[in-house]
Amino acid sequence: MFSEQLGYIEKAKSIAAARYGVPKACINTYGCQQNVSDSEHIKGMLEKMGYAFTEDASDADFVLFNTCAVREHAEDRVYGNIGTMKALKKARPDMIVAVCGCMAQQEKVAERIRKSYPYVDILFGTHLIHRFPEFLYRRLNGSKRIFDISTDTKHIVEGIPVHRDKTVKGWLPIMYGCDNFCTYCIVPYVRGRERSRASCEILREAEQMIAAGVKDITLLGQNVNSYGKGLSEDINFAKLIRKINDISGEFRIRFMTSHPKDCTLELLDAMRDCEKVAHHLHLPVQCGNNRVLGVMNRRYTREKYLSLIKAARSRMPDLSITSDIIVGFPGETYEEFCDTLSLVKEVEYNSLFTFIYSARPGTPAAEMPDIISRAEKGKWFNELLQAQDIIGKQKQNDMKGKTYRVLCEEESENEGFIMGRTNGTDVIEFAGDKTLIGKFVNVKVIDTNNVLKGTLI
Ligand code: 5AD
Ligand code: SF4
Repeated sequence: MFSEQLGYIEKAKSIAAARYGVPKACINTYGCQQNVSDSEHIKGMLEKMGYAFTEDASDADFVLFNTCAVREHAEDRVYGNIGTMKALKKARPDMIVAVCGCMAQQEKVAERIRKSYPYVDILFGTHLIHRFPEFLYRRLNGSKRIFDISTDTKHIVEGIPVHRDKTVKGWLPIMYGCDNFCTYCIVPYVRGRERSRASCEILREAEQMIAAGVKDITLLGQNVNSYGKGLSEDINFAKLIRKINDISGEFRIRFMTSHPKDCTLELLDAMRDCEKVAHHLHLPVQCGNNRVLGVMNRRYTREKYLSLIKAARSRMPDLSITSDIIVGFPGETYEEFCDTLSLVKEVEYNSLFTFIYSARPGTPAAEMPDIISRAEKGKWFNELLQAQDIIGKQKQNDMKGKTYRVLCEEESENEGFIMGRTNGTDVIEFAGDKTLIGKFVNVKVIDTNNVLKGTLI
């Protein structure tokens, strides 16, 4: 229960105030939206402990690295950035450095940080975010370094304070963990088993967000389509979005990520019926070849995936579809990669998140023979990017002259311009002032030179 932490919050607050005056925290977040949401909760707890926020680590009394383990490149970046803390900590020994997130949850990483990064004061795993005030208090109070990656994959701690980074858009976790064990993926090992929040908690938080002015809520989970499993109430993801849609107010509902194996017609019907649900489906295919999909343990075929796309488009002709793709999975041949390429051309995605396969120690794929060179995979990768580039440009061209209802999200880097998002995923830049932010307006697309340009109607 989070209430157990309230005493630590008060005690940490008084030590930090005595030591630093107004203490400042610098939070560095890597990886996916779940991490962004976790950081918002850590910031919420820091705020209660009296901390203000800074982007500049050299100006901070507390520096946190909330890490991602999905690909090696992300991990390397984190090690480099934690390394830069050595000099800062030497100059300011009373500063506290902490590491959390998916990298921290791995025993080998925790051990490496313990041994090679002695200036890291606190390391905690993905299951212990709610105990952060206790860890910070103990270290502020002179305890030894704290390293705790113990797991609890049964309980969800509700009531953690949250400091949202944005006012117009907000993240709302509906479930944690993943049970799918795709053979390349580290997530099930570092985030534990799937567990869903009670729908009443989600609805309560959605209502609070809407009352606070959030206009675009993204429901988060590694696999939102299996929401509700294990709960005693009669609920699934389709029913959940219908309930959120019933909340009064002008706002949009988005969600990610959907696993194709659990994407039901019931969900697609709910998307079509609920006027507040954005017409955007992020449905990661990963690969277009059935043999590779099998070895990836994705549990659907190319044909099943394509039939889902057809079912979704027949219900929502204006649907934006996006996907994740891994190029160069161990054992994948060029011919098999060409099946991915042909699938991409057939689906005509609005945009793609593309990755070259990265071996994650501890996953089954990391043990599989992988003979294709990085350079060769790079060529395939570029071929995929080029194919998608043509599709994306064509889609943008098709928007020219049409009018879209957009949510004004933020000011553009170009002064006097606003960035508005359609009910799909497209962002249109148009002349307007910042009083429009948070409002829904109609914008006509007039130009499509890489960035969509529009004019307010
Ligand atoms: N290598 C490359 N990409 C990966 N992803 C997950 N694990 C790996 C890996 N080992 C990609 C998948 C997933 C996205 C979040 O990251 O495409 O959908
Ligand atoms: Fe990883 Fe697959 Fe779970 Fe997504 S569904 S988090 S890719 S194991």
